[in-house]
Amino acid sequence: MTGQLFDLSGRVAVVSGGSRGIGQAIAELLAAHGAHVVVSSRRAAGVEPVVAAIRNDGGSAEAAVCHAGKASDVDELVERVTSKHGRFDILVNNAAANPYFGPILDTDMAAADKTIEVNLRGFFYFCRQAGAWMRDHDGGAIVNIASINGVKPAPWQGIYSITKAAIINMTQAFARECAGAGIRVNAVLPGLTDTRFAAAITGNERVLETVLPLIPMGRIAQPEEIAPAVLFLVSDAASYVTGACLPVDGGFLA
Ligand SMILES: NC(=O)c1ccc[n+]([C@@H]2O[C@H](COP(=O)([O-])OP(=O)(O)OC[C@H]3O[C@@H](n4cnc5c(N)ncnc54)[C@H](OP(=O)(O)O)[C@@H]3O)[C@@H](O)[C@H]2O)c1
Repeated sequence: MTGQLFDLSGRVAVVSGGSRGIGQAIAELLAAHGAHVVVSSRRAAGVEPVVAAIRNDGGSAEAAVCHAGKASDVDELVERVTSKHGRFDILVNNAAANPYFGPILDTDMAAADKTIEVNLRGFFYFCRQAGAWMRDHDGGAIVNIASINGVKPAPWQGIYSITKAAIINMTQAFARECAGAGIRVNAVLPGLTDTRFAAAITGNERVLETVLPLIPMGRIAQPEEIAPAVLFLVSDAASYVTGACLPVDGGFLA
């Protein structure tokens, strides 16, 4: 049993925003542990190389185009996965938007709407649709990728931080209500991670000089350091874990 705790063989996992960064690392790790991974993002050209790399490593994956903020796209993806595989065991809600970086009082409202559309409405709708299917079948596991900013709002990332706080509450709300249906719902809260998403910070020496001293481990994360927390939470190793919001942040929130 112990050796199989992290074995995902036979399970079907959907990872949104899987074409690069943290989502790519999650997709690759879940596939390496035996899951069939549906790697999705807005662009086929983005996800296809990730699928090819997984297959090249002996894993099982397929590409799916899905704008995570569009309900019709999410419906199409859930329908496609469940009709093709007859299963939907794991959802990793990862794709997010962060189009505005600036003072909260000057927030561009079109950018705020976009952030809410993807990070709040999109995460909620994906949880709702996948969760409803899981409830009517054998249950499942959902992991929402929130952020340390959901606990401690980051300067100039106000609306983004607000949506990430909502994801933490959303995770707990779904966890409480869905536990009886055999659905575990957890969140991972990454700290600053070396991806395109965070390039405005990680690529700016001056900003980095002020941020790094706030991280007890004194460095930013690599995407491959975030993915194992997701593997744990979707696996049988976490069979009694639901509603947890796990920081993977080098000690930032400590
Ligand atoms: N990097 C950090 O420092 C950090 C820290 C805390 C939390 N996070 C969270 O980690 C998650 C992943 O971020 P990342 O840093 O890995 O970002 P990233 O490298 O920029 O990757 C973002 C991914 O999301 C996809 N995507 C963007 N908008 C989408 C949409 N509307 N629908 C579907 N897919 C979409 C992108 O692919 P396409 O362009 O092909 O759609 C890409 O695959 C996000 O939830 C982010 O908030 C990141």
